Amino acid sequence: MSIQSISHQPFDDQKPGTSGLRKKTAHFQQPHYLPAFIQSIWAGIGGVAGKTLVLGGDGRFFCKEAAGIVLRMAAASGAARVIVGQNALLSTPAASHLIRKRGADGGIVLSASHNPGGPNGDFGVKYNVANGGPAPESITDAIFAASQTQSEYLIFDAAAPDLSILGETPLGGMVVEVIDPVADYAALMEQLFDFNALRALFAGGFRMRFDAMHAVTGPYAKTIFEDTLGAPTGSVINATPLPDFGQGHPDPNPIWAKPLVDELMADDGPDFGAASDGDGDRNMILGRGIYVTPSDSLAALAANATYIPAYADGLKGVARSMPTSAALDRVAEHLGIECHETPTGWKFFGNLLDAGRTTFCGEESAGTSSDHLREKDGVWAVLCWLNVLAARGVSVQALMQDHWARFGRNYYSRHDYEGIDSAAANALMDHLRAQLPTLAGQSVAGLCVTHADEFAYDDPIDGSRTERQGLRIYFEGGARLVFRLSGTGTVGATLRVYMECLETRTLNADPQEMLAPVIKAAEELAEIVPRTGRTAPDVIT
Ligand code: G1P
Ligand code: ZN
Repeated sequence: MSIQSISHQPFDDQKPGTSGLRKKTAHFQQPHYLPAFIQSIWAGIGGVAGKTLVLGGDGRFFCKEAAGIVLRMAAASGAARVIVGQNALLSTPAASHLIRKRGADGGIVLSASHNPGGPNGDFGVKYNVANGGPAPESITDAIFAASQTQSEYLIFDAAAPDLSILGETPLGGMVVEVIDPVADYAALMEQLFDFNALRALFAGGFRMRFDAMHAVTGPYAKTIFEDTLGAPTGSVINATPLPDFGQGHPDPNPIWAKPLVDELMADDGPDFGAASDGDGDRNMILGRGIYVTPSDSLAALAANATYIPAYADGLKGVARSMPTSAALDRVAEHLGIECHETPTGWKFFGNLLDAGRTTFCGEESAGTSSDHLREKDGVWAVLCWLNVLAARGVSVQALMQDHWARFGRNYYSRHDYEGIDSAAANALMDHLRAQLPTLAGQSVAGLCVTHADEFAYDDPIDGSRTERQGLRIYFEGGARLVFRLSGTGTVGATLRVYMECLETRTLNADPQEMLAPVIKAAEELAEIVPRTGRTAPDVIT
């Protein structure tokens, strides 16, 4: 066995986005592409020699091969130990927990999250740091900088161990430790929630359907909901992780998880429905006859957190990404706790969580979590809901009606225009940006603008500043419009338009109808149709 040094041309397109480096699978499979990026990670973190890493992925096509490459490269560069999920599986939250629990220096998650997988789908690589959270921009910038000049990588000239067998195997001077991907995570959940109350809930006939979307949460959900809590077999569906997610789009929203939504909207549907995404960090929450938007879910969980044993003493503070609705803000105000507004992407919550400034955080894109680890956590969010429902003895519908009656309802929707021409998308944003200084006081589509700006974030813990994080337009009466370009897409540009309005009287209307004036204002201000050539969004959530 020897260490090989392989030369290649540097790649110029390895800039990590909102959540790691994400590209078409074939792009990742081209010669040297993945190893070059991994070598850049080693460079960006100051080398891997003597370090312990966690490694796993969402089970998508190319994960196992990629895991083998990462292991051989870690061994070649002197890592001490890599803790790998069996069959290279680990959900993103489970990886985050393992890094923390084992005191690892960091971890690599092989996933493109909710993007489709397979030879024609997407692949991705994320690096997480020692607190278990996504690498901050200082590190992703260093990784990108390394990738632009690096022309050589080191790889062990021996096969990686069989990842289906639990236990420790040497690879050169490094130890490869293959572990059960579910056990540590399931044990953590048992510490946070009242499992006896949840067992009683299911024993009492409570019906739940959890759609794992053929992705990584299947084994976690089966173990926790069915085997441990006694939900009937079949409560968890699509539970076997498949390399192509059963040809599906593992994104838990009303578009891609429509069969689940339909089941919950039926009069005789289950009491509770949920789904998670490719790597298990997103969640969708449904009750019989109701879809709970992620922004509302975050606000409702914050308002009811003390029903959950781990949060019985109350929340230290809460945080939401800027485009997430202001429903959380009013709960925070009521509780008298801090509410932080951060840029899109989980990495911006890390400092607040580490500093004990926030307990719950979330994003409108179906991410919710707490300080129990440093990623968003789909199964955790589902357990939170179950625990609150069990403790309060109410339905999802009743809980939300009660919540809106107390706090008002932020009708919310996001319109995505996917795969549009990048130049056109940038021109649209530039055109909007140019209007911002003069919008206040103007009337657009019958709505009066109170103020408008481009969001920049000053991290209160480390003082770092992150600019150009979305264009915001606020209207009289609490409505808001946000525009930003996606940082996770792999084809062209994706324009995201986020809309919300606050209602304290009409609590059960159709969000698209309630938001019609804001949608019209978006069109007028951004000239979406002429500039993108699209007459309607590709995805409305
Ligand atoms: C999207 C979501 C964002 C989330 C990220 C990773 O990023 O909008 O909230 O953190 O995926 O799951 P975007 O494509 O908008 O940059
Ligand atoms: Zn994800």
